[in-house]
Amino acid sequence: MITATQLRNAMGLQTNESILKFLDNLPNSEDLSYKRGRSQVLEPEFFQQYLKSSRKNPIKNVHNKIVSIANNKGGVGKTSTTALVAYKASGMGYKTIVIDSDPQGNLTNYLLGEEYEAEYSLYDVFKGYCTVKEALVKVSNNLYIIPSTLDNEFISEAVSAVALPKMLKSNIVGELDADLFLIDTNPSLSDMNLAIHSIADMILTIVNNDSSSVKGLKHVLSKLEQLGYEGSIKAVFNKIDGRENLAQVTERITPLIEKFNFSICSKYMRIDNEIKNAQMNINGAMGVMDMSSKCQTDSLSITLDVLNDLSRQSEVLQ
Ligand SMILES: Nc1ncnc2c1ncn2[C@@H]1O[C@H](COP(=O)(O)OP(=O)(O)OP(=O)(O)O)[C@@H](O)[C@H]1O
Ligand SMILES: [Mg+2]
Repeated sequence: MITATQLRNAMGLQTNESILKFLDNLPNSEDLSYKRGRSQVLEPEFFQQYLKSSRKNPIKNVHNKIVSIANNKGGVGKTSTTALVAYKASGMGYKTIVIDSDPQGNLTNYLLGEEYEAEYSLYDVFKGYCTVKEALVKVSNNLYIIPSTLDNEFISEAVSAVALPKMLKSNIVGELDADLFLIDTNPSLSDMNLAIHSIADMILTIVNNDSSSVKGLKHVLSKLEQLGYEGSIKAVFNKIDGRENLAQVTERITPLIEKFNFSICSKYMRIDNEIKNAQMNINGAMGVMDMSSKCQTDSLSITLDVLNDLSRQSEVLQ
């Protein structure tokens, strides 16, 4: 669920007026939006039309795009960001498939609940124990997950490092149809993670205001350079608690920007304890978080930024 006010904030518009005016001009406007309390909730079909015609974010063509989430440092917010972006993209009508490659299975639990135990994971698909479609679990409208089990720890024993990228591309992503694939990774530079990054159209890397997460980013960027990665790389600042904090992380990251070619998301994620509260819920409550929490607007901005870049990539390719 996304509201007109969240969209306005995420797009940096002064008022809801242009959004509501656009809605008024649509022939079937009553099907595309409804009032819930004081909020104007927008349906996915609304976004498709609005984003295509918006001057600020003319998101036209996003299909079969792969985004991997990376940092060599643990606990920076890779999985939380993946979950939030997945909810926003699917809420805007983009069919989104998330893949939890991390044996810890946090993304699986953030989306499906603390106590969820998956039947199949990527490992089972690689071993031929199930098809990729059998491993897929529906989370909500437009949102699906290939969950993780501890067996993912043993993928490198099941498939050789050389074969991994091709297997991922043809046997996993190639067998599915989605607008957006989001692949969450654990904080290592394992063969599995490098294979995931190598097939990505975009690597979304999450950075906090501390030297170890910037170092973690440097490790990823150096490795990708060695591998000749050609997709785009975007950094998101997470757990930011004010201007000073933002200035510090920007300063920390500047030498890396000068050395490697990557962009910074124009919006950042503020510290929001609502994220932790939701993750501790048994029912996969990241999907039903308080709509007015900070992370809702922040993650919507980041999602728009990511979709916008992917849309531009598609235009260049055409
Ligand atoms: N913006 C935020 N505000 C407050 N807490 C956050 C925020 N982002 C993430 N967290 C918290 O930080 C912790 C780590 O988050 P998360 O699991 O997303 O990190 P990660 O990078 O995926 O970790 P790992 O490397 O272990 O996979 C969690 O407890 C989460 O609730
Ligand atoms: Mg994680």
